[in-house]
Amino acid sequence: MKGLADKPSYIIELMEGGVTLEDIIDGHIYEQTLVEKNAFVVGDLGALMRQHVCWQSLVPHLQPYYPVKCNSSPVVIEVLASLGLGFVCANKAEVSLVLEHGVPPENIILSGVCKQLALIKHAAKNNIQQLVCENEAELSKISRLHPGAKLLLQLTTEAHAAETSMAFGSSLKSCRHLLEAAKELGIQVVGVTFHIPSSCQDLPQAYTHALSDARCVFDMGVELGFNMNILDIGGGFTGSEFQLKQVESAVRPLLDTYFPPLSGVQVLAQPGSFYVASAFNLAVNVIGKKVVTRHWDSLAQGEFLSSNAEFLYYMNEGVYGPFNLKLLGNSIAAPSVHKHALCAEEAVYPSSLWGPSLDQLDQVVERCLLPELTVGDWLLFSNMGASGLEECSCLSGSSQLPVYYTVSTSDWYEMLEAGVVLDSTMKNFDMVQYNA
Ligand SMILES: Cc1ncc(COP(=O)(O)O)c(C=O)c1O
Repeated sequence: MKGLADKPSYIIELMEGGVTLEDIIDGHIYEQTLVEKNAFVVGDLGALMRQHVCWQSLVPHLQPYYPVKCNSSPVVIEVLASLGLGFVCANKAEVSLVLEHGVPPENIILSGVCKQLALIKHAAKNNIQQLVCENEAELSKISRLHPGAKLLLQLTTEAHAAETSMAFGSSLKSCRHLLEAAKELGIQVVGVTFHIPSSCQDLPQAYTHALSDARCVFDMGVELGFNMNILDIGGGFTGSEFQLKQVESAVRPLLDTYFPPLSGVQVLAQPGSFYVASAFNLAVNVIGKKVVTRHWDSLAQGEFLSSNAEFLYYMNEGVYGPFNLKLLGNSIAAPSVHKHALCAEEAVYPSSLWGPSLDQLDQVVERCLLPELTVGDWLLFSNMGASGLEECSCLSGSSQLPVYYTVSTSDWYEMLEAGVVLDSTMKNFDMVQYNA
């Protein structure tokens, strides 16, 4: 693959010998302490690699297509493209990013239920044929602008509709209608896509409904003469091995029943958070502190020692920056305190964490138990890779958050063994040895 023209290469710090991710974070905290104490992000490419190994070993029959909207850092795209993943793109910028990284158009799916005309034309021009479609208006746009498209019909699932609070995808009845309309317009339909979010409480039931509905759509498609050969079971993988096993055990028997290997149907999934969440850590600085006195009746016995003080800490980033998912109703897990190993007898206090805007919406963590902090302490938020860090940092009012990429030599060698060859595939990486 060629290097990206006009793009800087990305500096990747190599952790050699006994150097750990914590050492890398410590080093950058030290650098920041000498200057403005700005928040920063550390991305561990080894974590991407380990997730890929986990995916390949637990669900090798599910071909991973990474949804770029989950984290569109070019470094992430470069690694995942090198690992051979397919990509799901929702707009022109995402398509261009993925194509620039040498991903073949047949490994790209264009998602989105209502695509701008220019996007459909752009897909046709770049020979991207797999397009998601869920309504008739979309079908007629595609038939005019991209008659060679191969459609995946987006099937509704209750869990997805509940998460987005809107009708998402097409019902079984509407799918028949869409198939007939596609037939009339001379557009090919090749499969079905659906999504069950990780928030779903009853995975076996949700996958049973979705896969039996998908089978019905396949049967209707075959009846109308379509060559139905792609089933996309969407995302909804948190990143934990345990949850992936749970999904696998819900899905496996259903696939064996409805889409056995002999059917020749290619089964895809769209793991987003699974790949990127654990790879990114965010370090923020405590810039202010207040104590208020409250009575917490609801605290469990022993959780909180004697005082009823609550601490409010202000951090140099908030919901108008890297914690923007909070505004969309997601909760942010409590951070750890840098260089602070909590011991059993240490007092912890109810605390809330706020961004710097002094806006009442800018509450990042509503309540957590922390040892007493002082201004200047650093807090570490893990699992931040799927939080839109790369896009939102410019909203924070402060300048762009620095992102430092790192990989350990052992992970790097594992990557090479997995077939990722530095010289030929990662032209845009500049590997430097980490110096403490
Ligand atoms: C259609 C679709 N596919 C895949 C994903 C990625 O999901 P996850 O990050 O939970 O794997 C999403 C997330 O919203 C989605 O809406």
